[in-house]
Amino acid sequence: MSAEDFKTEIRQGIPDSLPPKKTRDEKYSHAPVRKDILSEREKKLAVKNALRYFDSKFHEELAPEFAEELNKYGRIYMYRFMPDYEMHARPIEDYPASSKQAAAIMLMIQNNLDPAVAQHSQELITYGGNGAVFQNWAQYRLTMQYLSVMTDDQTLHMYSGHPMGLFPSSPDAPRVVVTNGMMIPNYSSQDDWERYNALGVTQYGQMTAGSYMYIGPQGIVHGTTITVLNAIRKIDKEGTGTGGKLFVTSGLGGMSGAQPKAGNIAGCVSITAEINPLAAKKRHEQGWVDEIESDLATLMKKVESDRKGKKARSYAYLGNIVDLWEYLDKNDISVDLGSDQTSLHNPWAGGYYPVGYSFEESNEMMAKDPEKFKKAVKDSLLRQIQAINKLSDKGMYFFDYGNAFLLEASRAGADIIKDNGEFTYPSYVQDIMGPMCFDYGFGPFRWVCTSGKPEDLDYTDKLASAVLREQKETADQEISTQIDDNITWIEAAGDNKLVVGSQARILYADAKGRMAIAKAFNDAIKDGKIGPVVLGRDHHDVSGTDSPYRETSNIYDGSRFTADMAIQNVIGDSFRGATWVSIHNGGGVGWGEVINGGFGMLLDGSNQAEDRINSMLFYDVNNGISRRAWAGNEGALFAIKEAMKNNPSLMVTIPNKADDDLLNNL
Ligand SMILES: NC(=O)c1ccc[n+]([C@@H]2O[C@H](COP(=O)([O-])OP(=O)(O)OC[C@H]3O[C@@H](n4cnc5c(N)ncnc54)[C@H](O)[C@@H]3O)[C@@H](O)[C@H]2O)c1
Repeated sequence: MSAEDFKTEIRQGIPDSLPPKKTRDEKYSHAPVRKDILSEREKKLAVKNALRYFDSKFHEELAPEFAEELNKYGRIYMYRFMPDYEMHARPIEDYPASSKQAAAIMLMIQNNLDPAVAQHSQELITYGGNGAVFQNWAQYRLTMQYLSVMTDDQTLHMYSGHPMGLFPSSPDAPRVVVTNGMMIPNYSSQDDWERYNALGVTQYGQMTAGSYMYIGPQGIVHGTTITVLNAIRKIDKEGTGTGGKLFVTSGLGGMSGAQPKAGNIAGCVSITAEINPLAAKKRHEQGWVDEIESDLATLMKKVESDRKGKKARSYAYLGNIVDLWEYLDKNDISVDLGSDQTSLHNPWAGGYYPVGYSFEESNEMMAKDPEKFKKAVKDSLLRQIQAINKLSDKGMYFFDYGNAFLLEASRAGADIIKDNGEFTYPSYVQDIMGPMCFDYGFGPFRWVCTSGKPEDLDYTDKLASAVLREQKETADQEISTQIDDNITWIEAAGDNKLVVGSQARILYADAKGRMAIAKAFNDAIKDGKIGPVVLGRDHHDVSGTDSPYRETSNIYDGSRFTADMAIQNVIGDSFRGATWVSIHNGGGVGWGEVINGGFGMLLDGSNQAEDRINSMLFYDVNNGISRRAWAGNEGALFAIKEAMKNNPSLMVTIPNKADDDLLNNL
């Protein structure tokens, strides 16, 4: 399709005449059939809701088609309205828009739906099995049309994928405000999601799916590399390094697919179990995992030889993770590091595949006999924990990877809760990311070069590395290792060939680092060295996310079950210069389990962009540090005091510490 035809189709929104009926393309991975949860009356309401997007003259033709999709797949995706043009991030000038900021958002949306990037692109799911950008293709088309006409005096308000409309605002306001899955708290259970999503009135936006900030698994490779590196540092008492160490885990999906790559970068041997052959093949073809093997005995021979030779190598075990754990235990194979990244934030609808059933059998069972499936999942989790316990007794360090594994295993009846209410295994945030990164403000800062040129990305990598090197010269000892790890990362990032989709990069930086890097980019744009850059982060960060078993799991003052921080963050970012803001129910660990907020910001080389950097990025990080400091976290107390020294306008309430002896004698 020509560039002009592409623009015409975007401007057209929902077409005036019906496009020919389409069926989904079987060459792509598709979302599992969702649970048949609606009553007959509710099914009619779902179809009625879907028809709202179309002129009534089309209803007779569309109503049975939508009813059929609902019955067949559990959702109405409106496959007929999938666009004919290729879905991928185009250079920013290729979008029909009168607002550059709106064009940047269009680019980010298309990247999230790119089949090379998205997990179930035709169901508008970017990652995590159910992380949706939109609920259906009508919403996509309408949103792109609004973005194509909007000016910098308007804001588009997105209600769980539905574009409510353009409202007058001002150039300083965000161009888009996104809410995903915000529910009345008492109606926020997994089944509520199934019901209201099937009705077409809400969606699960995950973290970066529904906020248009996904950059492929690269985003997570970096965080995973840092986690694996620091986890090995933690257990490596003899200081022998990562060579020869074995890391065992599961999941080669959207985020979990980063694990073998991270294992390679960290220098260890890794085995990642994956039940879905398509997911394993995709990561293998992308070069993220070195080899796929389905025979456990053959696999172990190869692994042992790599361990002896201290060779960094990654294996996908094509099969169920439970079979792998049980084999390792039974054969007394020592494991250094263990984790799990099945999608247990979504246990009953395709996030976790129970042992003893093939991939296809499970898919059928979850749709046809959900109660049997639920039982199979619980039994499988109990077997999994049992094998993990045994391997841990033999010396393995196991950590929960924020996928609700321990939570669901305990709900299934596993005895893994200590007297103090904590799990017997730490989460990676409690032990690693929280105290080493988040408390100091280090988090997943990312950027996308909207020109689409690899040379722009290369230039920004060099700028970021120069800024970090400079920061390192005067950095306090507390944060020096973090800066070092990030310098190593950014200087090798090009060689690691991590780009899938848009020209994007990630690194962990604190507030000072993020602001300095952003300013360097804005100056380079001003000087005409590179095109505009979108800044963002994922929600797996110091400030944006309240998630008691993950991001905020190392907060011990009782406030980890509150969500004030995430709400403050998104409101605070919105009037300090974000180009778009988003707030979600459930990102990462599941519906009802977390509230998470994010932002995107377009840098265009202007002075206003510099003001936004100074105001918004500063707040975006220090909001979370102040909360962590108030909870008494040592690193955060250090970091917030430093921030106040550097910016006298910041005045944060500092806690007084009570004496434990005094409390114990009460
Ligand atoms: N990487 C991170 O840093 C990070 C951080 C926080 C949370 N998470 C969580 O990790 C989970 C995974 O995320 P994702 O985007 O990769 O999800 P995903 O659904 O794309 O991938 C999960 C994969 O696990 C496979 N799987 C499920 N059950 C299995 C089993 N029993 N044996 C073998 N394979 C099995 C699935 O086939 C799927 O490919 C999510 O819950 C996410 O929230 C990841």
